[in-house]
Amino acid sequence: MTPILIAEPDGSDRKRLEVAVKIAGCEAAFADTLSSARESVGELDAEVLVIGPTLVCDAAFDLADRLQRASGVATVVAAANVDAVLLRRAMRAGVTDVVGPNDTTEDVASAIRRAGEIATRLRCAVAAEVEEAHKGKVVTVFSTKGGVGKTVIATNLGVALASMGHKVALVDLDLEFGDVGIMLGLKPEHTINDAVAGFDRLDAEMLAGIMEHHASGLHTLLAPTLPEDADIISAARVGQILDLVRENYDYVVVDTCPAFTEPVLAAIDRSDALYVITTMDVASIKNTRISLQKLHQLGYNNGRVRLVLNRSDSKVLLQPAEVEQAIGGKIFACIPSDRIVPRSVNQGIPVVTELPRSEVAKSLMRLAKDAATPVSKEAGNVS
Ligand SMILES: Nc1ncnc2c1ncn2[C@@H]1O[C@H](COP(=O)(O)OP(=O)(O)OP(=O)(O)O)[C@@H](O)[C@H]1O
Ligand SMILES: [Mg+2]
Repeated sequence: MTPILIAEPDGSDRKRLEVAVKIAGCEAAFADTLSSARESVGELDAEVLVIGPTLVCDAAFDLADRLQRASGVATVVAAANVDAVLLRRAMRAGVTDVVGPNDTTEDVASAIRRAGEIATRLRCAVAAEVEEAHKGKVVTVFSTKGGVGKTVIATNLGVALASMGHKVALVDLDLEFGDVGIMLGLKPEHTINDAVAGFDRLDAEMLAGIMEHHASGLHTLLAPTLPEDADIISAARVGQILDLVRENYDYVVVDTCPAFTEPVLAAIDRSDALYVITTMDVASIKNTRISLQKLHQLGYNNGRVRLVLNRSDSKVLLQPAEVEQAIGGKIFACIPSDRIVPRSVNQGIPVVTELPRSEVAKSLMRLAKDAATPVSKEAGNVS
């Protein structure tokens, strides 16, 4: 354990607390003031702070509160006088224990030991929170229907997010027939197979080398070039690779095949936003209804699942409201149909780059902005 920091200027009080620290089996370090205690906690990486009687005041409780929240430091207050007001103040500040003049040195030592245990738990929680906050946001584009525009949307989302200055990776989980590379005009010199084959050595640097880089700044982890190569890629490996990608990028956009395959479920599991793509034809509507029911059964939270109507202005005698009724879900965003889309697909240049002023590009940019906003946001229409 790191040293226990005793904040107390008075020699005899300091001695009493030092003895207790020794009985607790720890090393002691000292500070004379609250401000030097604050500095020393950081320098020593102390897990437990003991505030002595001379320094017990509102500022001491504020310090205890701040240190606990920011660094998982547990504080024991050794007060000259313990009353209800002080106990309430200590409780509000998250102080681990309060000891008074009538407590034995052994009691103080036990309070310090307990504080050490609590600090270890607090630190784990703080570390987990920091790790979660640093993980990239996963945005998956999904539909069980082929040809509805998943890859068009995923590639444009990736390029749009990269053009906003974010560090973005696009992972092609249409492992047999992925065409992210074709739509972005990239040559697949490396694919996800290289990440799988070299997984034991896979780190951030190797991952960056396996990614194909697009002119927009987007990095892509492409699907295997041969469909049979997909067979060796397990869902567990896909999950591990996605976790590594998340650690190294702000956003991870995932394109998928038209089925609930195990690798796709590994991506959905990690998704902060899941865009379910539908079009206005009866087969797509039926598939989407069933997919949403399945996602619901699998326990995926509705706030993360967002329905996107692609080719929303198609002349098919159906209105978006009828589509919503038939699917049983609210449309979150609409993307119009435009001839420039197949043209851009054939050229390997995403519409958000080629024709950013077109309605279709603008709607894709809005979707990218939505993907970049915090997850807690409830579903609403962004079209
Ligand atoms: N908004 C749009 N306007 C016009 N054409 C579109 C639009 N969105 C997609 N398309 C066309 O639809 C075709 C299929 O799109 P895409 O390949 O993205 O679908 P997909 O869902 O990824 O299909 P698959 O499941 O086979 O991978 C493409 O040729 C594309 O040009
Ligand atoms: Mg596709």
